[in-house]
Amino acid sequence: RDPHGMLDLVLKFPAQCREAANITWHYGVGASEAVEIRRIVVTGLGGSAIGGDFLRCLADEYGPIPVLVNRDYHLPHWVNRNTLVIAASYSGNTEETLQAIRDASRAEAQIAVVTSGGKLADIAKQASYAYALVPGGQPPRSATGYMFFPQLTYLAHRSLLRHQFEHDIEETLSILESLAKRLGPDVPTDQNPAKQLARALYGKIPVIYGSQGYRGVVAYRWKSQFNENTKIAAFSNVLPEQNHNEILAWVQAQKQAPNWAVIFLRDPNERFENPRIVRRVEVTTELIRRVAPVYEVLAEGESLLARLFSLVYIADFVSVYLAYLYGVCPTDISYIDYLKAELA
Ligand code: F6R
Repeated sequence: RDPHGMLDLVLKFPAQCREAANITWHYGVGASEAVEIRRIVVTGLGGSAIGGDFLRCLADEYGPIPVLVNRDYHLPHWVNRNTLVIAASYSGNTEETLQAIRDASRAEAQIAVVTSGGKLADIAKQASYAYALVPGGQPPRSATGYMFFPQLTYLAHRSLLRHQFEHDIEETLSILESLAKRLGPDVPTDQNPAKQLARALYGKIPVIYGSQGYRGVVAYRWKSQFNENTKIAAFSNVLPEQNHNEILAWVQAQKQAPNWAVIFLRDPNERFENPRIVRRVEVTTELIRRVAPVYEVLAEGESLLARLFSLVYIADFVSVYLAYLYGVCPTDISYIDYLKAELA
């Protein structure tokens, strides 16, 4: 049923998040906590960058400090001593992230590191940067809890977010635990929406649309999970921007490929946040349904953290079930490994 262990990791994700929210920080002496932080940059790639995306969503909502996620070798030139740079790499050996932390050091930025080890852990210890060491040994994309929650607790420690998260974290964990029960492998397909969606997507190219705000980040995570776990092409975009260009692709999308399927990530609150978006989703759905099936996945919970993580977690189940339907190994990342080896 689970020959490669990814489903097991997905089922353990709520426990991972609970553990991650309590991981100890080594504060070091390299970062002066007296310096005023005016900007935050999270630098990382792939599965390790996603935690930064989540942090950005929370910072956008609660402020006061803007967060930029840097998925590149070099940091922007405006990074200076009033910038907090969080270097996030699960393996600790990703060359782009190692280059970026050099930039951060040169710019005399405040530096914090989240990793399971590797060169990044050595650098953090030697330079006495603040660091959180998370448990290693699993694919980075399955370690999002480990890579994200320490970032949140570090920002809380330094009072860089105008919000208390204790209640939100509890709500998030209980929703994740409930989803694990409802979407787990023991729940038969006729009662399991994740298995149903995986079946519906078999043989199709998924296009995932977020209906504004944090759903854009989550749509990208869905796309990446289909790429990495399922080994299929998938695309994502976000409204309202999609309505100003990509919407036109649906006029004759079928001539390029006849087998698209669209997933809309929805939120129970979007009606209150912005009723215009709800109308946009309705009209966009009506247009796409002329040529492709459209499915909806609804976020759960009250807090932004819970709504974000519930949508992310559903993607884990759907992408792994779909991998099993295709008969591919969800843990395999042979092409990424090949590329890293060729560049070594
Ligand atoms: C593999 C995965 C990748 C890695 C990326 C960066 O599971 O998710 O996207 O996250 O290659 O490596 P790390 O996370 O070790 O810095």
